[in-house]
Amino acid sequence: MSSRFDAVFDRSLRDPEGFWGEAAEAVSWHRRWDRVLDDRRPPYYRWFAGAEVNTCHNAVDVHVEAGRGEQPAIIHDSPITGRKSTLTYAALRDATARFAGALARLGVGRGDRVIIYMPMVPEAVVAMLGCARLGAVHSVVFGGFASKELAGRIDDCEPKVIVSASCGIEPGRTVEYKPLLDGAIELARHRPDRCVILQRPEHRCLLDPARDLDWEDFHSGAEPHECVPVAATDPLYILYTSGTTGRPKGVVRDNGGHIVALKWSMKNIYGVEPGEVFWAASDIGWVVGHSYIVYAPLFAGNTTILFEGKPVGTPDPGTFWRIIAEHDVRVMFTAPTAFRAIKREDPAGEHIGRHDLSAFRTLFLAGERTDPDTLHWAREKLRVPVIDHWWQTETGWSICANCIGIEALPVKEGSPTRGVPGMDVRVVDENAEEVERGTIGALVVKLPLPPGTFPTLWNAGERFVESYLAEFPGYYKTADAGYMDEDDYVYVMSRTDDIINVAGHRLSTGAMEEVLAAHPDVAECAVAGVNDALKGQAPLGFLVLNAGFDRSPAEVVAESVALVRDRIGPVASFKTAVVVERLPKTRSGKILRGTMQKIANGEEWRMPATIDDPAILDEITEALRTIGYPAEAAS
Ligand code: COA
Ligand code: AMP
Repeated sequence: MSSRFDAVFDRSLRDPEGFWGEAAEAVSWHRRWDRVLDDRRPPYYRWFAGAEVNTCHNAVDVHVEAGRGEQPAIIHDSPITGRKSTLTYAALRDATARFAGALARLGVGRGDRVIIYMPMVPEAVVAMLGCARLGAVHSVVFGGFASKELAGRIDDCEPKVIVSASCGIEPGRTVEYKPLLDGAIELARHRPDRCVILQRPEHRCLLDPARDLDWEDFHSGAEPHECVPVAATDPLYILYTSGTTGRPKGVVRDNGGHIVALKWSMKNIYGVEPGEVFWAASDIGWVVGHSYIVYAPLFAGNTTILFEGKPVGTPDPGTFWRIIAEHDVRVMFTAPTAFRAIKREDPAGEHIGRHDLSAFRTLFLAGERTDPDTLHWAREKLRVPVIDHWWQTETGWSICANCIGIEALPVKEGSPTRGVPGMDVRVVDENAEEVERGTIGALVVKLPLPPGTFPTLWNAGERFVESYLAEFPGYYKTADAGYMDEDDYVYVMSRTDDIINVAGHRLSTGAMEEVLAAHPDVAECAVAGVNDALKGQAPLGFLVLNAGFDRSPAEVVAESVALVRDRIGPVASFKTAVVVERLPKTRSGKILRGTMQKIANGEEWRMPATIDDPAILDEITEALRTIGYPAEAAS
């Protein structure tokens, strides 16, 4: 089809060692690699085996050494608190060196884990980079998760230190982090040695003198620490993501391959030059935040925006445009849900006209499929290319994208374009045979995955193989289904597991079911993701109550909603459940979640051939009608 992109893509698959070896020349190594790709133990592959490198050095120090010391590295823009600040590369180097020195003083060293449970403040980025500087492994936990979720992560990665803050700020409320943190440590089996707490002016919390250290005291008198060289294959971070059960998966990222791939992606996928301002409007608790708020823009010598606010309501739907104009943002990345929120409040895009966006070049969207309405609206109002790209926590960067830095390919609506260099995407049937173009199947990527993707799951090598590599030998299973057209464009249609996508956040219905099942009056339950006009999907619970239950069903629904919020966190957005007599099942006992989802969405559905008792679906339809589904489902 198109020569430039095809040539680059073909080479990446034909000669991956040559391709990524060349990209690796842009990285500053302490020791060069023995082999670019170590493929001696499939299905485990390692990139840049034998090399030594430091991630913080490549994100920060190299730019100071190259004369970018006075360039802003991070601009913190926080409309929710009314504060703004800038950290230059030189200031960021000093801050990370001091943080690393203070952490080392607490006995943290190479390979030790540190949990970071913080809002969108520059100190959170300093903590991430400070860990990287020491060779310690960070695990950032999103602030919208509650104690139990945090406790699970504490037990899985066993941190020596937890870094947190007194509070986060959400519209209309202050989220006190300290009680959530204390609750998590109480629930967990593992005890961290120390907690470092940043006291924010909006709310100060009480510290436990035996365990907690104030951020300032922690730093006081600490010596700056140099960057510690680590193996390229050593873990840089663990990021937990939803699996199909309540036990999240600890996705591991290495150091060397991650720097190579992410640095390469800034120029080749996003078309950004060093020194330019790049903004990913997400949260550091998600993979988008790790890769494109923190690491990639810093590896590439860009200025990154750390935004603490919402697309609407902080203070209005013009916030995004104000930030783009004020900070000279050239390329932006966010989730379609943010645009749906803005469009709902400002359908005519009047706020856009109030700002000078003449230097803004490209909008990238990911996290969920970009719906045509959002695509058209954004393109028409912003008058820039709008690019949907597809990726996952596991891959750490794009699987499919329109690589505008290589060559802008024609946009096809509903498609995140083609596999990026290094990603050999295929569509297969249940026998791992490729299906015809246009036919829906499992989306898989031929092994080895390129650098920057996950080498394994933390403490769970077997689960890594079982979950991702066993079903389609020789391929990585994305757990997304879709198809490819004659031009190799990929269309991502749905998940093949129990994951739902709520406001660009990946959530496990299985985890919610585990919480609901723990309610003493709930005999059986199911959770399905139903259409939501703003968030894409929203969870809906189906509850069967114990025989002899004699309270109002509405009370159990309210308690269930509170229980999910308490156990998983507000981020689950679990607001609705319906009490039903029975759940529809196949004769083998499998709950027909998909059919209930279709009924709630008002979509066409077929009576499953294997259903145990068809009459149950009439009961479900009736029960849903009493709570306004499907008519109000997408309102
Ligand atoms: N700490 C504590 N609570 C948090 C939180 C955090 N960091 N982030 C979100 N929450 C809470 C919210 O306050 C909300 O609570 P509520 O039920 O009391 O209202 C709940 O979690 C659900 O949050 P969310 O799904 O984000 O909904 P929202 O109504 O607050 O905002 C959007 C909706 C679309 C504006 C918002 O999700 C958004 O900006 N998304 C786009 C960017 C993005 O984050 N993408 C992620 C991957 S790229
Ligand atoms: P996460 O790991 O949280 O980034 O979520 C990854 C999942 O989000 C993918 O497996 C997809 O289901 C979905 N997703 C992300 N980006 C896209 C996209 N551009 N189009 C369709 N689905 C997407």
